Amino acid sequence: MSIRRLPSELINRIAAGEVVERPASALKELIENALDAGAATVAIRLSAGGLDRLEVTDDGSGMAPQAMLLALERHATSKLPDDAIEAVTSFGFRGEALPSIASVSRLTLESRPRSGDGWRVEVDHGVKVGEGPAALPPGTRVRVEALFDKVPARRKFLRSPRAEYAACLHAVKRLAMARPDVAFSLEHDGRRVLTVQPSDGPARVAALLSNELDRHGIGIDCVRHDLRLTGVVSLPTFHRGMADQQYLFANSRPVKDRLLVGALRAAYRDLLARDRHPVAALFVEVPAGEVDTNVHPAKTEVRFRDPAAIRGLIVGGLKAALDEAGHRSVAREQFAQPANWISEPHSGDPSEGGNPAEQARWAPVFAGVTNDPATVTERILDFAPAARAEPATAPVPSFPLGVARGQVAATYIVAEAEDGLVIVDQHAAHERLVLERMRKASAGGQIARQALLMPDVVELEEPDCDRLEAAIRELDGLGLEIERFGPTAILVRATPASLGKTDVRALLADLAAELAELGSALSLRDRLDNVAATMACHGSVRAGRILSVAEMNALLREMEVTPHSGQCNHGRPTWVKLAHGDIEKLFGRR
Ligand SMILES: Nc1ncnc2c1ncn2[C@@H]1O[C@H](COP(=O)(O)OP(=O)(O)OP(=O)(O)O)[C@@H](O)[C@H]1O
Ligand SMILES: [Mg+2]
Repeated sequence: MSIRRLPSELINRIAAGEVVERPASALKELIENALDAGAATVAIRLSAGGLDRLEVTDDGSGMAPQAMLLALERHATSKLPDDAIEAVTSFGFRGEALPSIASVSRLTLESRPRSGDGWRVEVDHGVKVGEGPAALPPGTRVRVEALFDKVPARRKFLRSPRAEYAACLHAVKRLAMARPDVAFSLEHDGRRVLTVQPSDGPARVAALLSNELDRHGIGIDCVRHDLRLTGVVSLPTFHRGMADQQYLFANSRPVKDRLLVGALRAAYRDLLARDRHPVAALFVEVPAGEVDTNVHPAKTEVRFRDPAAIRGLIVGGLKAALDEAGHRSVAREQFAQPANWISEPHSGDPSEGGNPAEQARWAPVFAGVTNDPATVTERILDFAPAARAEPATAPVPSFPLGVARGQVAATYIVAEAEDGLVIVDQHAAHERLVLERMRKASAGGQIARQALLMPDVVELEEPDCDRLEAAIRELDGLGLEIERFGPTAILVRATPASLGKTDVRALLADLAAELAELGSALSLRDRLDNVAATMACHGSVRAGRILSVAEMNALLREMEVTPHSGQCNHGRPTWVKLAHGDIEKLFGRR
Protein backbone atom coordinates (compact mmCIF):
# COMPACT_ATOMS: atom_id res chain seq x y z
CA MET A 1 0.00 0.00 0.00
CA SER A 2 1.31 3.43 -0.84
CA ILE A 3 1.42 6.29 1.61
CA ARG A 4 -0.75 9.26 0.71
CA ARG A 5 -1.67 12.60 2.27
CA LEU A 6 -5.24 12.59 3.54
CA PRO A 7 -7.75 15.04 2.08
CA SER A 8 -8.61 17.88 4.45
CA GLU A 9 -12.22 16.73 4.91
CA LEU A 10 -11.01 13.42 6.25
CA ILE A 11 -8.43 15.12 8.47
CA ASN A 12 -11.23 17.18 9.97
CA ARG A 13 -13.39 14.10 10.52
CA ILE A 14 -10.51 12.47 12.34
CA ALA A 15 -9.98 15.54 14.52
CA ALA A 16 -13.72 15.61 15.18
CA GLY A 17 -13.37 12.14 16.65
CA GLU A 18 -11.31 13.64 19.45
CA VAL A 19 -12.95 17.02 19.84
CA VAL A 20 -16.64 16.30 19.22
CA GLU A 21 -17.72 13.27 21.12
CA ARG A 22 -21.36 14.19 21.63
CA PRO A 23 -23.61 17.26 21.39
CA ALA A 24 -22.38 18.57 24.74
CA SER A 25 -18.78 18.68 23.52
CA ALA A 26 -19.75 20.63 20.38
CA LEU A 27 -21.77 22.98 22.58
CA LYS A 28 -18.81 23.51 24.89
CA GLU A 29 -16.61 24.54 21.94
CA LEU A 30 -19.21 27.00 20.64
CA ILE A 31 -19.72 28.64 24.03
CA GLU A 32 -15.97 28.88 24.54
CA ASN A 33 -15.64 30.63 21.18
CA ALA A 34 -18.34 33.11 22.21
CA LEU A 35 -16.54 33.82 25.48
CA ASP A 36 -13.19 34.18 23.72
CA ALA A 37 -14.85 36.71 21.39
CA GLY A 38 -15.59 38.91 24.41
CA ALA A 39 -19.32 38.24 24.61
CA ALA A 40 -21.28 39.80 27.49
CA THR A 41 -24.31 37.64 26.74
CA VAL A 42 -24.46 34.05 25.49
CA ALA A 43 -27.82 32.62 24.44
CA ILE A 44 -28.07 28.88 23.84
CA ARG A 45 -30.93 26.98 22.21
CA LEU A 46 -31.13 23.21 21.94
CA SER A 47 -33.53 20.75 20.36
CA ALA A 48 -33.73 17.14 21.45
CA GLY A 49 -30.73 17.37 23.75
CA GLY A 50 -28.69 18.94 20.93
CA LEU A 51 -29.11 15.91 18.68
CA ASP A 52 -31.39 17.82 16.29
CA ARG A 53 -30.06 21.32 16.76
CA LEU A 54 -27.59 23.37 18.82
CA GLU A 55 -27.47 27.11 18.48
CA VAL A 56 -25.23 29.60 20.26
CA THR A 57 -25.68 33.34 19.79
CA ASP A 58 -23.26 35.88 21.23
CA ASP A 59 -22.77 39.63 21.23
CA GLY A 60 -18.99 39.39 20.96
CA SER A 61 -16.57 40.83 18.40
CA GLY A 62 -18.10 39.12 15.36
CA MET A 63 -16.13 38.32 12.20
CA ALA A 64 -15.81 39.80 8.73
CA PRO A 65 -16.69 37.43 5.82
CA GLN A 66 -13.04 36.63 5.06
CA ALA A 67 -12.39 35.75 8.70
CA MET A 68 -15.44 33.49 8.75
CA LEU A 69 -14.07 31.42 5.90
CA LEU A 70 -10.71 31.20 7.60
CA ALA A 71 -12.34 30.23 10.90
CA LEU A 72 -13.77 27.16 9.17
CA GLU A 73 -10.35 26.04 8.03
CA ARG A 74 -8.25 23.75 10.12
CA HIS A 75 -5.44 25.23 12.21
CA ALA A 76 -6.73 28.75 11.74
CA THR A 77 -6.96 30.69 14.99
CA SER A 78 -6.86 34.30 16.09
CA LYS A 79 -5.87 33.33 19.61
CA LEU A 80 -2.12 32.83 19.42
CA PRO A 81 -0.97 36.21 18.06
CA ASP A 82 2.68 35.60 19.01
CA ASP A 83 2.65 31.79 19.06
CA ALA A 84 3.02 31.86 22.86
CA ILE A 85 1.03 28.75 23.65
CA GLU A 86 2.39 28.63 27.23
CA ALA A 87 0.84 32.00 28.00
CA VAL A 88 -2.58 31.35 26.46
CA THR A 89 -5.50 32.68 28.50
CA SER A 90 -8.31 32.10 26.00
CA PHE A 91 -10.35 28.88 26.12
CA GLY A 92 -9.47 27.98 22.52
CA PHE A 93 -6.09 27.99 20.80
CA ARG A 94 -5.95 24.90 18.59
CA GLY A 95 -7.93 26.31 15.68
CA GLU A 96 -9.78 23.10 15.04
CA ALA A 97 -13.13 23.17 16.84
CA LEU A 98 -15.22 24.81 14.11
CA PRO A 99 -13.88 22.80 11.14
CA SER A 100 -14.18 19.60 13.20
CA ILE A 101 -17.82 20.24 14.08
CA ALA A 102 -18.57 21.34 10.50
CA SER A 103 -17.17 18.07 9.16
CA VAL A 104 -19.74 15.94 11.03
CA SER A 105 -22.87 18.12 10.82
CA ARG A 106 -24.67 20.81 8.90
CA LEU A 107 -23.27 24.06 10.25
CA THR A 108 -24.50 27.59 9.67
CA LEU A 109 -22.18 30.38 10.74
CA GLU A 110 -23.59 33.90 10.80
CA SER A 111 -21.54 36.82 12.00
CA ARG A 112 -21.41 40.57 12.02
CA PRO A 113 -18.46 42.67 13.22
CA ARG A 114 -19.15 45.92 15.15
CA SER A 115 -18.56 47.98 12.02
CA GLY A 116 -19.83 46.06 9.02
CA ASP A 117 -22.68 43.96 7.76
CA GLY A 118 -23.73 40.45 8.57
CA TRP A 119 -22.69 37.43 6.51
CA ARG A 120 -23.70 33.78 6.46
CA VAL A 121 -21.73 30.66 5.50
CA GLU A 122 -23.27 27.19 5.36
CA VAL A 123 -21.24 24.00 5.47
CA ASP A 124 -22.64 20.52 4.98
CA HIS A 125 -20.38 17.79 6.34
CA GLY A 126 -17.23 19.68 5.50
CA VAL A 127 -18.36 21.09 2.16
CA LYS A 128 -19.33 24.73 1.75
CA VAL A 129 -22.84 24.75 0.30
CA GLY A 130 -23.84 28.38 0.44
CA GLU A 131 -23.09 31.89 1.62
CA GLY A 132 -24.70 35.31 1.48
CA PRO A 133 -25.77 38.36 3.45
CA ALA A 134 -27.40 37.82 6.83
CA ALA A 135 -29.40 40.10 9.11
CA LEU A 136 -28.27 39.92 12.73
CA PRO A 137 -27.04 42.29 15.45
CA PRO A 138 -23.26 42.58 15.95
CA GLY A 139 -21.94 39.25 17.17
CA THR A 140 -22.04 35.66 16.00
CA ARG A 141 -24.61 32.90 15.73
CA VAL A 142 -23.59 29.31 15.07
CA ARG A 143 -26.18 26.65 14.36
CA VAL A 144 -25.31 22.95 14.25
CA GLU A 145 -27.87 20.50 12.88
CA ALA A 146 -27.93 16.80 12.07
CA LEU A 147 -24.82 16.15 14.15
CA PHE A 148 -23.30 12.74 13.27
CA ASP A 149 -26.18 11.95 10.87
CA LYS A 150 -23.63 10.75 8.34
CA VAL A 151 -21.34 9.16 10.92
CA PRO A 152 -23.30 6.09 11.97
CA ALA A 153 -20.42 4.76 14.07
CA ARG A 154 -20.67 7.86 16.27
CA ARG A 155 -24.43 8.08 16.19
CA LYS A 156 -24.58 4.59 17.73
CA PHE A 157 -22.78 5.75 20.83
CA LEU A 158 -25.10 8.65 21.49
CA ARG A 159 -27.60 8.29 24.29
CA SER A 160 -31.20 9.39 24.54
CA PRO A 161 -32.09 13.07 24.01
CA ARG A 162 -32.62 13.28 27.77
CA ALA A 163 -29.16 12.02 28.58
CA GLU A 164 -27.59 14.26 25.95
CA TYR A 165 -29.54 17.18 27.34
CA ALA A 166 -28.24 16.44 30.84
CA ALA A 167 -24.68 16.53 29.49
CA CYS A 168 -25.36 19.81 27.67
CA LEU A 169 -26.80 21.38 30.82
CA HIS A 170 -23.67 20.34 32.70
CA ALA A 171 -21.45 21.89 30.02
CA VAL A 172 -23.37 25.17 30.20
CA LYS A 173 -23.14 25.27 33.98
CA ARG A 174 -19.40 24.63 33.96
CA LEU A 175 -18.74 27.54 31.64
CA ALA A 176 -21.25 29.78 33.39
CA MET A 177 -19.38 29.18 36.65
CA ALA A 178 -16.06 29.88 34.96
CA ARG A 179 -17.32 33.26 33.74
CA PRO A 180 -19.68 34.80 36.30
CA ASP A 181 -19.34 38.20 34.59
CA VAL A 182 -21.19 36.95 31.50
CA ALA A 183 -24.98 36.49 31.22
CA PHE A 184 -26.16 33.05 30.03
CA SER A 185 -29.52 31.73 28.96
CA LEU A 186 -30.44 28.21 27.90
CA GLU A 187 -33.56 27.12 26.06
CA HIS A 188 -34.38 23.46 25.48
CA ASP A 189 -37.15 22.39 23.09
CA GLY A 190 -38.61 25.87 23.24
CA ARG A 191 -38.58 26.13 27.03
CA ARG A 192 -36.34 28.49 29.02
CA VAL A 193 -34.43 26.28 31.47
CA LEU A 194 -31.71 28.55 32.79
CA THR A 195 -30.99 32.26 32.96
CA VAL A 196 -28.19 33.89 34.93
CA GLN A 197 -27.29 37.57 35.01
CA PRO A 198 -23.72 38.85 35.44
CA SER A 199 -22.63 38.49 39.07
CA ASP A 200 -19.63 37.63 41.20
CA GLY A 201 -18.20 34.11 41.60
CA PRO A 202 -19.92 33.06 44.84
CA ALA A 203 -23.35 34.28 43.73
CA ARG A 204 -22.99 32.52 40.36
CA VAL A 205 -21.97 29.24 41.99
CA ALA A 206 -24.86 29.53 44.45
CA ALA A 207 -27.27 30.08 41.56
CA LEU A 208 -26.07 27.01 39.65
CA LEU A 209 -25.16 24.46 42.27
CA SER A 210 -27.58 22.41 44.37
CA ASN A 211 -29.58 25.06 46.19
CA GLU A 212 -29.17 23.21 49.45
CA LEU A 213 -25.53 24.18 49.54
CA ASP A 214 -26.36 27.45 51.21
CA ARG A 215 -27.16 25.38 54.31
CA HIS A 216 -24.81 22.46 53.68
CA GLY A 217 -21.80 24.15 52.13
CA ILE A 218 -18.56 25.62 53.41
CA GLY A 219 -16.87 28.54 51.72
CA ILE A 220 -13.21 27.83 50.97
CA ASP A 221 -10.34 30.20 50.57
CA CYS A 222 -6.75 29.24 51.15
CA VAL A 223 -3.46 30.47 49.86
CA ARG A 224 -0.13 28.68 49.86
CA HIS A 225 2.79 30.54 48.37
CA ASP A 226 1.60 31.59 44.94
CA LEU A 227 -1.22 29.02 44.74
CA ARG A 228 -4.77 29.81 45.69
CA LEU A 229 -7.90 27.72 46.20
CA THR A 230 -11.40 29.23 46.47
CA GLY A 231 -14.93 27.92 46.13
CA VAL A 232 -17.43 25.88 48.07
CA VAL A 233 -17.67 22.23 49.12
CA SER A 234 -20.45 20.31 50.85
CA LEU A 235 -20.32 19.28 54.49
CA PRO A 236 -19.62 15.55 54.92
CA THR A 237 -23.25 15.12 56.00
CA PHE A 238 -24.44 16.23 52.56
CA HIS A 239 -23.40 13.89 49.78
CA ARG A 240 -24.58 12.29 46.58
CA GLY A 241 -24.62 8.85 45.04
CA MET A 242 -22.54 10.02 42.11
CA ALA A 243 -19.78 12.53 41.47
CA ASP A 244 -21.90 14.56 39.07
CA GLN A 245 -21.91 17.82 40.99
CA GLN A 246 -18.21 18.48 41.12
CA TYR A 247 -17.08 21.50 39.20
CA LEU A 248 -13.34 22.01 39.05
CA PHE A 249 -11.47 24.88 37.47
CA ALA A 250 -7.80 25.54 36.80
CA ASN A 251 -7.16 29.23 36.17
CA SER A 252 -10.87 29.65 35.33
CA ARG A 253 -10.82 26.84 32.78
CA PRO A 254 -13.29 24.03 33.56
CA VAL A 255 -11.32 20.80 33.80
CA LYS A 256 -12.00 17.14 34.54
CA ASP A 257 -8.54 16.66 35.83
CA ARG A 258 -7.67 13.42 37.60
CA LEU A 259 -5.28 15.09 40.01
CA LEU A 260 -7.93 17.54 41.18
CA VAL A 261 -10.67 14.91 41.43
CA GLY A 262 -8.31 12.64 43.35
CA ALA A 263 -7.35 15.39 45.78
CA LEU A 264 -11.01 16.17 46.43
CA ARG A 265 -11.67 12.50 47.18
CA ALA A 266 -8.66 12.31 49.44
CA ALA A 267 -9.86 15.27 51.49
CA TYR A 268 -13.10 13.42 52.27
CA ARG A 269 -11.58 9.96 52.60
CA ASP A 270 -12.29 9.45 56.28
CA LEU A 271 -15.55 11.32 56.20
CA LEU A 272 -17.57 9.67 53.43
CA ALA A 273 -18.35 6.11 52.43
CA ARG A 274 -16.52 5.05 49.30
CA ASP A 275 -19.65 5.22 47.15
CA ARG A 276 -20.73 8.68 48.30
CA HIS A 277 -19.49 11.89 46.73
CA PRO A 278 -19.28 15.51 47.87
CA VAL A 279 -20.70 18.45 45.95
CA ALA A 280 -18.01 20.98 45.09
CA ALA A 281 -17.09 23.98 43.00
CA LEU A 282 -13.38 24.62 43.37
CA PHE A 283 -11.21 27.16 41.65
CA VAL A 284 -7.45 26.63 41.62
CA GLU A 285 -5.32 29.59 40.60
CA VAL A 286 -1.67 29.12 39.75
CA PRO A 287 0.84 31.38 37.96
CA ALA A 288 0.49 30.94 34.17
CA GLY A 289 3.82 29.17 33.72
CA GLU A 290 2.92 26.53 36.32
CA VAL A 291 0.22 24.87 34.25
CA ASP A 292 0.18 23.42 30.72
CA THR A 293 -3.25 23.53 29.07
CA ASN A 294 -2.15 21.91 25.82
CA VAL A 295 -2.30 18.27 26.86
CA HIS A 296 -5.77 17.19 25.74
CA PRO A 297 -7.64 17.64 22.42
CA ALA A 298 -10.78 18.84 24.17
CA LYS A 299 -8.67 20.97 26.56
CA THR A 300 -10.41 19.47 29.58
CA GLU A 301 -7.24 18.20 31.22
CA VAL A 302 -4.21 20.19 32.28
CA ARG A 303 -0.77 19.36 33.60
CA PHE A 304 0.63 21.10 36.65
CA ARG A 305 4.36 21.62 36.94
CA ASP A 306 4.23 20.80 40.64
CA PRO A 307 1.33 18.38 41.14
CA ALA A 308 2.28 17.63 44.74
CA ALA A 309 1.88 21.28 45.71
CA ILE A 310 -1.58 21.42 44.13
CA ARG A 311 -2.63 18.24 45.84
CA GLY A 312 -1.30 19.51 49.16
CA LEU A 313 -3.18 22.76 48.77
CA ILE A 314 -6.49 21.01 48.09
CA VAL A 315 -6.22 18.17 50.59
CA GLY A 316 -4.78 20.40 53.33
CA GLY A 317 -7.10 23.30 52.69
CA LEU A 318 -10.27 21.22 52.52
CA LYS A 319 -9.39 19.06 55.50
CA ALA A 320 -8.77 22.12 57.66
CA ALA A 321 -12.06 23.67 56.55
CA LEU A 322 -14.01 20.43 57.03
CA ASP A 323 -12.53 19.87 60.49
CA GLU A 324 -13.48 23.34 61.51
CA ALA A 325 -16.99 23.03 60.10
CA GLY A 326 -17.35 19.56 61.63
CA HIS A 327 -17.12 21.06 65.08
CA ARG A 328 -20.01 23.34 64.29
CA SER A 329 -22.41 21.07 62.43
CA VAL A 330 -21.99 17.84 64.35
CA ALA A 331 -22.40 19.57 67.64
CA ARG A 332 -25.40 21.62 66.59
CA GLU A 333 -27.34 18.89 64.91
CA GLN A 334 -26.72 15.99 67.21
CA PHE A 335 -26.55 17.46 70.67
CA ALA A 336 -29.30 19.97 70.74
CA GLN A 337 -29.19 20.17 74.55
CA PRO A 338 -27.23 23.31 75.37
CA ALA A 339 -26.29 21.79 78.74
CA ASN A 340 -24.17 19.21 76.89
CA TRP A 341 -22.12 21.80 75.09
CA ILE A 342 -18.65 22.54 76.26
CA SER A 343 -17.04 25.42 74.52
CA GLU A 344 -13.39 25.52 73.74
CA PRO A 345 -11.28 28.56 72.96
CA HIS A 346 -9.83 28.46 69.48
CA SER A 347 -6.57 29.67 68.07
CA GLY A 348 -6.70 29.86 64.28
CA ASP A 349 -3.74 28.55 62.31
CA PRO A 350 -2.63 31.52 60.23
CA SER A 351 -0.74 29.36 57.71
CA GLU A 352 -4.04 27.91 56.42
CA GLY A 353 -5.81 31.20 56.81
CA GLY A 354 -6.19 32.71 53.37
CA ASN A 355 -7.42 36.09 52.50
CA PRO A 356 -10.01 37.47 54.95
CA ALA A 357 -11.55 39.72 52.30
CA GLU A 358 -12.14 36.76 50.00
CA GLN A 359 -13.53 34.63 52.82
CA ALA A 360 -15.90 37.42 53.65
CA ARG A 361 -16.99 37.35 50.01
CA TRP A 362 -17.85 33.61 50.10
CA ALA A 363 -19.14 33.64 53.68
CA PRO A 364 -22.56 35.31 53.26
CA VAL A 365 -23.45 32.85 50.53
CA PHE A 366 -22.04 29.71 52.12
CA ALA A 367 -21.39 29.25 55.81
CA GLY A 368 -17.82 30.39 55.37
CA VAL A 369 -14.90 29.33 57.50
CA THR A 370 -13.87 32.57 59.07
CA ASN A 371 -11.65 33.65 61.89
CA ASP A 372 -14.36 35.89 63.21
CA PRO A 373 -14.13 35.69 67.04
CA ALA A 374 -17.90 35.42 67.40
CA THR A 375 -17.86 32.19 65.43
CA VAL A 376 -14.77 30.91 67.12
CA THR A 377 -16.16 30.94 70.67
CA GLU A 378 -19.01 28.75 69.49
CA ARG A 379 -16.67 25.89 68.80
CA ILE A 380 -17.66 22.81 70.64
CA LEU A 381 -15.88 19.84 72.05
CA ASP A 382 -18.21 17.14 70.86
CA PHE A 383 -18.71 13.50 71.73
CA ALA A 384 -17.45 13.69 75.29
CA PRO A 385 -20.87 13.55 76.98
CA ALA A 386 -22.44 11.26 74.43
CA ALA A 387 -21.90 7.82 75.97
CA ARG A 388 -24.67 6.13 77.92
CA ALA A 389 -24.47 2.91 79.86
CA GLU A 390 -26.49 0.13 81.44
CA PRO A 391 -25.12 -1.39 84.64
CA ALA A 392 -23.85 -4.92 84.02
CA THR A 393 -25.84 -6.63 86.76
CA ALA A 394 -28.08 -9.11 84.94
CA PRO A 395 -26.60 -12.49 83.99
CA VAL A 396 -25.73 -12.76 80.29
CA PRO A 397 -28.19 -14.96 78.35
CA SER A 398 -26.67 -16.80 75.42
CA PHE A 399 -27.45 -14.50 72.57
CA PRO A 400 -24.73 -14.56 69.88
CA LEU A 401 -24.56 -10.76 69.83
CA GLY A 402 -25.05 -10.45 73.58
CA VAL A 403 -26.92 -7.92 75.71
CA ALA A 404 -26.64 -4.18 75.14
CA ARG A 405 -24.59 -2.48 77.84
CA GLY A 406 -24.27 0.96 76.41
CA GLN A 407 -23.97 3.31 73.50
CA VAL A 408 -20.78 5.16 72.65
CA ALA A 409 -20.48 8.39 70.66
CA ALA A 410 -24.17 8.03 69.81
CA THR A 411 -23.00 5.70 67.07
CA TYR A 412 -21.86 2.36 68.50
CA ILE A 413 -23.68 -0.14 70.64
CA VAL A 414 -21.50 -2.02 73.10
CA ALA A 415 -22.88 -5.42 74.08
CA GLU A 416 -21.70 -8.16 76.38
CA ALA A 417 -21.87 -11.70 74.98
CA GLU A 418 -21.03 -14.91 76.79
CA ASP A 419 -17.73 -15.18 74.97
CA GLY A 420 -16.68 -11.56 74.60
CA LEU A 421 -17.40 -7.94 73.89
CA VAL A 422 -19.45 -6.94 70.82
CA ILE A 423 -19.38 -3.51 69.18
CA VAL A 424 -22.09 -2.69 66.63
CA ASP A 425 -22.24 0.21 64.19
CA GLN A 426 -25.89 1.13 64.64
CA HIS A 427 -26.41 2.86 61.30
CA ALA A 428 -24.66 0.22 59.22
CA ALA A 429 -26.53 -2.56 60.99
CA HIS A 430 -29.91 -0.98 60.77
CA GLU A 431 -29.46 -0.11 57.11
CA ARG A 432 -28.91 -3.77 56.36
CA LEU A 433 -31.95 -4.81 58.34
CA VAL A 434 -34.17 -2.35 56.47
CA LEU A 435 -32.84 -3.57 53.14
CA GLU A 436 -33.43 -7.22 53.98
CA ARG A 437 -36.96 -6.38 55.14
CA MET A 438 -37.66 -4.58 51.88
CA ARG A 439 -36.23 -7.42 49.82
CA LYS A 440 -38.36 -9.96 51.62
CA ALA A 441 -41.51 -7.90 51.29
CA SER A 442 -41.01 -7.07 47.63
CA ALA A 443 -40.29 -10.71 46.78
CA GLY A 444 -43.61 -11.59 48.41
CA GLY A 445 -45.24 -8.75 46.46
CA GLN A 446 -46.59 -7.12 49.59
CA ILE A 447 -44.65 -4.00 50.40
CA ALA A 448 -46.40 -1.96 53.05
CA ARG A 449 -46.62 1.68 52.12
CA GLN A 450 -47.62 4.74 54.02
CA ALA A 451 -49.70 7.27 52.12
CA LEU A 452 -48.73 10.87 52.81
CA LEU A 453 -51.57 12.97 54.19
CA MET A 454 -50.58 15.75 51.86
CA PRO A 455 -48.68 14.63 48.75
CA ASP A 456 -45.19 16.09 48.87
CA VAL A 457 -43.90 18.10 45.91
CA VAL A 458 -40.15 17.78 45.44
CA GLU A 459 -38.33 20.15 43.11
CA LEU A 460 -35.44 18.56 41.24
CA GLU A 461 -33.49 19.24 38.09
CA GLU A 462 -35.22 18.14 34.94
CA PRO A 463 -32.85 15.24 34.09
CA ASP A 464 -33.33 13.89 37.62
CA CYS A 465 -37.13 14.11 37.22
CA ASP A 466 -36.84 12.29 33.89
CA ARG A 467 -34.91 9.45 35.47
CA LEU A 468 -37.38 9.05 38.31
CA GLU A 469 -40.31 9.22 35.92
CA ALA A 470 -38.80 6.47 33.79
CA ALA A 471 -38.54 4.29 36.92
CA ILE A 472 -42.06 4.91 38.24
CA ARG A 473 -43.07 1.25 38.02
CA GLU A 474 -39.89 -0.09 39.63
CA LEU A 475 -40.25 2.37 42.48
CA ASP A 476 -43.92 1.55 42.92
CA GLY A 477 -42.93 -2.09 43.32
CA LEU A 478 -40.80 -1.00 46.26
CA GLY A 479 -43.58 1.03 47.83
CA LEU A 480 -42.62 4.49 46.61
CA GLU A 481 -45.52 6.10 44.75
CA ILE A 482 -44.57 9.11 42.66
CA GLU A 483 -45.94 11.12 39.76
CA ARG A 484 -44.38 13.64 37.40
CA PHE A 485 -45.48 17.13 38.42
CA GLY A 486 -44.35 19.52 35.72
CA PRO A 487 -40.91 19.68 34.16
CA THR A 488 -38.90 20.11 37.33
CA ALA A 489 -40.95 18.52 40.09
CA ILE A 490 -42.12 15.15 41.33
CA LEU A 491 -45.20 14.50 43.43
CA VAL A 492 -44.79 11.88 46.16
CA ARG A 493 -47.96 10.11 47.27
CA ALA A 494 -46.63 7.25 49.40
CA THR A 495 -43.35 5.95 50.79
CA PRO A 496 -42.37 2.43 51.84
CA ALA A 497 -43.58 1.87 55.40
CA SER A 498 -40.32 0.19 56.37
CA LEU A 499 -38.50 3.50 55.94
CA GLY A 500 -40.44 5.18 58.72
CA LYS A 501 -40.31 8.96 58.67
CA THR A 502 -37.91 10.01 55.92
CA ASP A 503 -36.65 13.14 54.28
CA VAL A 504 -38.49 12.62 51.00
CA ARG A 505 -36.50 15.22 49.11
CA ALA A 506 -33.14 13.72 50.03
CA LEU A 507 -34.47 10.26 49.21
CA LEU A 508 -35.57 11.28 45.70
CA ALA A 509 -32.33 13.14 45.00
CA ASP A 510 -30.31 10.07 45.99
CA LEU A 511 -32.51 7.73 43.98
CA ALA A 512 -32.16 9.93 40.90
CA ALA A 513 -28.39 9.91 41.28
CA GLU A 514 -28.43 6.16 41.76
CA LEU A 515 -30.57 5.67 38.63
CA ALA A 516 -28.28 7.92 36.62
CA GLU A 517 -25.26 5.92 37.64
CA LEU A 518 -26.88 2.56 36.95
CA GLY A 519 -28.08 3.64 33.50
CA SER A 520 -29.86 0.83 31.74
CA ALA A 521 -26.91 -1.53 31.86
CA LEU A 522 -28.19 -3.62 34.75
CA SER A 523 -31.02 -6.10 34.83
CA LEU A 524 -34.24 -4.96 36.43
CA ARG A 525 -33.57 -7.15 39.45
CA ASP A 526 -30.15 -5.68 40.07
CA ARG A 527 -31.45 -2.19 39.60
CA LEU A 528 -34.23 -2.84 42.10
CA ASP A 529 -31.70 -4.14 44.55
CA ASN A 530 -29.53 -1.06 44.23
CA VAL A 531 -32.49 1.26 44.51
CA ALA A 532 -33.74 -0.62 47.54
CA ALA A 533 -30.31 -0.25 49.14
CA THR A 534 -30.41 3.50 48.58
CA MET A 535 -33.85 3.65 50.14
CA ALA A 536 -32.75 1.54 53.07
CA CYS A 537 -29.99 3.99 53.83
CA HIS A 538 -32.65 6.67 54.26
CA GLY A 539 -34.81 4.52 56.46
CA SER A 540 -32.16 3.58 58.95
CA VAL A 541 -31.16 4.87 62.33
CA ARG A 542 -28.50 7.46 61.71
CA ALA A 543 -25.25 7.57 63.55
CA GLY A 544 -25.78 10.18 66.20
CA ARG A 545 -29.17 9.05 67.41
CA ILE A 546 -29.42 8.17 71.06
CA LEU A 547 -31.04 4.74 71.46
CA SER A 548 -32.81 3.34 74.49
CA VAL A 549 -31.57 0.04 75.92
CA ALA A 550 -34.72 -1.67 74.65
CA GLU A 551 -34.12 -0.32 71.14
CA MET A 552 -30.51 -1.51 71.23
CA ASN A 553 -31.48 -5.02 72.29
CA ALA A 554 -34.23 -5.19 69.67
CA LEU A 555 -31.68 -4.28 67.02
CA LEU A 556 -29.28 -7.01 68.22
CA ARG A 557 -32.03 -9.67 68.21
CA GLU A 558 -33.17 -8.75 64.71
CA MET A 559 -29.58 -8.88 63.46
CA GLU A 560 -29.23 -12.43 64.75
CA VAL A 561 -32.09 -13.66 62.60
CA THR A 562 -31.47 -11.60 59.45
CA PRO A 563 -29.38 -12.91 56.53
CA HIS A 564 -26.20 -10.94 55.69
CA SER A 565 -26.58 -8.84 58.80
CA GLY A 566 -22.83 -8.97 59.43
CA GLN A 567 -22.24 -6.57 56.57
CA CYS A 568 -23.76 -3.24 55.75
CA ASN A 569 -25.09 -2.50 52.26
CA HIS A 570 -21.70 -1.12 51.29
CA GLY A 571 -19.83 -4.21 52.34
CA ARG A 572 -18.36 -2.92 55.59
CA PRO A 573 -18.78 -4.96 58.78
CA THR A 574 -21.73 -4.03 60.97
CA TRP A 575 -20.25 -5.48 64.13
CA VAL A 576 -16.98 -6.76 65.58
CA LYS A 577 -16.37 -9.04 68.53
CA LEU A 578 -13.45 -9.05 70.94
CA ALA A 579 -13.30 -12.52 72.45
CA HIS A 580 -12.42 -12.76 76.12
CA GLY A 581 -9.08 -14.22 75.10
CA ASP A 582 -8.38 -11.22 72.88
CA ILE A 583 -9.16 -8.83 75.69
CA GLU A 584 -6.86 -10.71 78.03
CA LYS A 585 -4.08 -10.49 75.45
CA LEU A 586 -4.64 -6.74 75.17
CA PHE A 587 -3.97 -6.42 78.88
CA GLY A 588 -1.00 -8.74 78.85
CA ARG A 589 -2.78 -11.33 81.02
CA ARG A 590 -1.87 -14.04 78.53
N1 LIG B 1 -18.29 33.19 18.25
C1 LIG B 1 -17.22 33.71 17.64
N2 LIG B 1 -17.02 35.04 17.59
C2 LIG B 1 -15.94 35.56 17.00
N3 LIG B 1 -14.96 34.82 16.43
C3 LIG B 1 -15.09 33.48 16.45
C4 LIG B 1 -16.22 32.86 17.05
N4 LIG B 1 -16.09 31.51 16.91
C5 LIG B 1 -14.92 31.32 16.27
N5 LIG B 1 -14.31 32.49 15.99
C6 LIG B 1 -13.03 32.67 15.30
O1 LIG B 1 -12.77 31.49 14.60
C7 LIG B 1 -11.51 30.94 14.96
C8 LIG B 1 -11.57 29.43 14.90
O2 LIG B 1 -12.41 28.91 15.93
P1 LIG B 1 -12.12 27.46 16.46
O3 LIG B 1 -13.01 27.17 17.60
O4 LIG B 1 -12.15 26.54 15.31
O5 LIG B 1 -10.62 27.56 16.95
P2 LIG B 1 -10.04 28.24 18.25
O6 LIG B 1 -11.12 28.69 19.14
O7 LIG B 1 -9.06 29.24 17.80
O8 LIG B 1 -9.26 27.02 18.90
P3 LIG B 1 -9.88 25.64 19.49
O9 LIG B 1 -9.90 24.65 18.39
O10 LIG B 1 -8.95 25.30 20.57
O11 LIG B 1 -11.27 25.97 19.95
C9 LIG B 1 -11.22 31.50 16.32
O12 LIG B 1 -9.84 31.59 16.58
C10 LIG B 1 -11.88 32.88 16.24
O13 LIG B 1 -11.02 33.81 15.66
MG1 LIG C 1 -12.63 27.41 19.77
